[in-house]
Amino acid sequence: MRSPEWKVGEPGLDLAAPGFYGSGDHWDVWRQARAAHPVAWHESGRVGGFWSVTTHALGSRVIKRTKEFVSTQGMRLGGNPASVRSAVHKMMVVADGADHRRIRAVHAPWFTGRAVTTMRSELEKRLSAHVDALVERNTSFDAVRELTARFPTWVLCQMMGVPPEEWAKLATLTDTAFDDSDQSEAAAAARGTAHAEIFLYFADLMERRRYAPGNDVVSTLVHTEVDGQRLSTKEILLNCDGLMNGGLETTPHAAAGAILAFASYPDVWQRVRKDPDLIDGTVEEILRWTSPPMHAMRTAVADVDLGDARVREGDQVVVWLPSCNRDETVFEHPDEFIVDRRPNPHICFGGGPHYCIGAPLARVELRCFIEVMAPRIAAFHVSGDVVRKQSSFLNGLDRLEITMEPDTRVPAEEQR
Ligand code: HEM
Repeated sequence: MRSPEWKVGEPGLDLAAPGFYGSGDHWDVWRQARAAHPVAWHESGRVGGFWSVTTHALGSRVIKRTKEFVSTQGMRLGGNPASVRSAVHKMMVVADGADHRRIRAVHAPWFTGRAVTTMRSELEKRLSAHVDALVERNTSFDAVRELTARFPTWVLCQMMGVPPEEWAKLATLTDTAFDDSDQSEAAAAARGTAHAEIFLYFADLMERRRYAPGNDVVSTLVHTEVDGQRLSTKEILLNCDGLMNGGLETTPHAAAGAILAFASYPDVWQRVRKDPDLIDGTVEEILRWTSPPMHAMRTAVADVDLGDARVREGDQVVVWLPSCNRDETVFEHPDEFIVDRRPNPHICFGGGPHYCIGAPLARVELRCFIEVMAPRIAAFHVSGDVVRKQSSFLNGLDRLEITMEPDTRVPAEEQR
């Protein structure tokens, strides 16, 4: 046991339990935690003890100081130790120092502003057609399954060089592989099988690209040398898995959360539709307000003072990113969705050397999503279930039943 001890929430509260996050009660518990103990030792019946960090200043410090807090013992609370051991120093998110720089450098050309902008025109075409079909259908539908989980798959699969007829298969595998809501043995086995199939899929694609390179991420991972060294087969496969995870488990929740925000704040949606200058700020506020990653974990490699706590070498430290992004000492009215919030220093993409490499892509995707919706949809209405994800790793919705009210005005160019 360490001090200060976690003391807010119901007795017996387990922050590592996915079920806790299904009700949405975590927002209030975190608010209390920020006031009572920004860093506190939490004992979990599932994963043992760990430090819980809930404020923006201390959370930012943990994720930026890689000399004190490392990712090489896993960045996910309750992660499978065998999987972490097998990925460490090889997969970007659980590599540090020179290994991390080497692996990240190979990926970097695909994640510059210019590279991701080229993905945009294809996305805009597909997404416009998809939304037009949904509008035409004119029924209530699950926005997560039928809309927001779809378009990030198109973008990422195109980038990876996956043929379109295999996109749906990969999306299903990724959903299963990274879904921690069901803690049963059967679900764990299903996750293991899905991961194995993702690896097999990319092993096959990698071999195809070795001999016939294309303009895609897999070809880049296979053929690029950094300091005269290429990535090993295992490194390539682990990082393909990492990109699928990073790209498909986050953006859909941000977009679904955006729809919920626009349904809850219809006047804000009207402003965004009419004023393109608001779009950049809206994207940042979507990221802050939805904060899809629930946490980032680190392990201390020295004894360190953190706030009122003395963190010991070997302790696990969990930064609850959505809590940091609703820290009332940084964000005025933190629970409100305010699109002209300036500045908006959210840490939705993390910080320091592990700052999300996919951030430029995620921003382009969300911007494109708004720009496709704005001329078409006058209003979003929640028409049925809004089901929160039961996960301690992902903050988002499993289901969002909506109707979309089309804009029936004749576009100006058609009037001419
Ligand atoms: C709204 C969308 C997204 C959010 C909120 C998000 C959030 C994050 C966060 C918080 C981290 C840091 C993890 C840590 O410090 O341990 C991260 C890292 C990462 N993300 Fe994202 N991400 C998003 C989209 C994407 C996309 C689209 C991709 C790829 C296609 C991606 C790939 C990655 C990778 C590979 C890393 C590891 C980077 C490193 O360790 O250097 N992410 N992301």
